[in-house]
Amino acid sequence: MAAKAEAGLFDSIFLADQLALGDDIVSGPRTGLEPVTMLAALATGTKRIGLIATASTTYTEPFNLARQFASIDHISGGRVGWNIVTSWLATAAGNYGGDKPVSHADRYARGEEFMTVVKALWESWAEDAILDDRAAGVYARPGAIKRIDHQGDFYQVAGPLNVPRGPQGRPVLVQAGSSETGRDFAARHAEAIFTAQMEKATAQTFYKDLKARVTAAGRSVDQALILPGLSPLIAGTEAEAARLADELGTLTDPEVGRKRMSARFGGHDFSHLPLDKPLSVEDFPDPETIQAARSRTEVIVGLVRREKPTLRELLAMLAGARGHHVFAGTPEQVADLMVDWFEDGAADGFNIMPPILPSMLEIFTAEVVPILRARGLFRSEYEGETLRDHYGLNQP
Ligand SMILES: Cc1cc2nc3c(=O)[nH]c(=O)nc-3n(C[C@H](O)[C@H](O)[C@H](O)COP(=O)(O)O)c2cc1C
Repeated sequence: MAAKAEAGLFDSIFLADQLALGDDIVSGPRTGLEPVTMLAALATGTKRIGLIATASTTYTEPFNLARQFASIDHISGGRVGWNIVTSWLATAAGNYGGDKPVSHADRYARGEEFMTVVKALWESWAEDAILDDRAAGVYARPGAIKRIDHQGDFYQVAGPLNVPRGPQGRPVLVQAGSSETGRDFAARHAEAIFTAQMEKATAQTFYKDLKARVTAAGRSVDQALILPGLSPLIAGTEAEAARLADELGTLTDPEVGRKRMSARFGGHDFSHLPLDKPLSVEDFPDPETIQAARSRTEVIVGLVRREKPTLRELLAMLAGARGHHVFAGTPEQVADLMVDWFEDGAADGFNIMPPILPSMLEIFTAEVVPILRARGLFRSEYEGETLRDHYGLNQP
């Protein structure tokens, strides 16, 4: 997939991650290799494409994470990115000595200190720390590598990092929280923000709000890119695309969907809800009370409020892209949608989630990318070496 995306001149590929096995494993291959380990392999199999892996601030040691991402930055020649998650999945706690899930607020409080520590570790080597003067027998410039001596509520870390500064200085920082707390966190730290938006209007509202928070945090808006998810089902005609969407819909199992939605609501029991009766907001807990994927529950309840779908219809909408925008149409129509969101303040780019792999990645690259290029909106070759170059991000 990475090679296909690189052939399509994508900016990057992104690997999601969860820290516990879902209880719906019987119905699908819901496992994956550990993303950072996978990135090392992909770094040697690709040359230019950016490589983004998910890692948790709640269940990882900052010194280890800083070391891993600096190492991949060296191995990849400056192409690494880190999707910063606080790990909303309640069952993850059990794999890290916890008897109960960490609250939303505590996850973000720990995450904030985590960011302070890892940024200081990546900065612990000055840009010109390495002299490597063999004749003089001096490798590092004295005083150019510093301890960080961090003493905080959650972490005590002496530093310095024992891996030299990476080609990008530090990984590109990606984040995908959309709650109030999540947005403020993104405004302070994120250089790319993934978000789930089921329609253009909510995407525009999110875009405007997030850019305003970035400015309020004293950062420049072009250094915080917003990339909504888009799951394009592409066919030669609209009718064929619609037929494919229906066929995919028939292949989903609503009982698996019910379980997965329950997980997003922190384990809330939806087993009593009939599949074919229109839903109302009262059928759901208030998203403000959700400790798990709070903003995703806001997306779901918002949809129910607007469209009053039956449970079967809601689960079918969530099945393919879990709350991200799903679109079925011709290559022209997919390109039109992307250009419309891009030019109308809803997106700086897109997190492409091909609903069928590898075919929908191949069709997107072969059919949609050339249209975007012909409209002067997509590269015809990689200009830079690093992910920061691809995204147009400054070197820290
Ligand atoms: C595109 C996208 C990808 C995400 N990937 C992951 C992931 O790999 N692992 C994870 O634990 N959470 C992932 N999340 C969830 C977010 O990190 C976050 O927990 C969730 O959006 C809830 O945000 P909130 O806490 O601000 O409400 C992802 C969210 C989005 C929009």
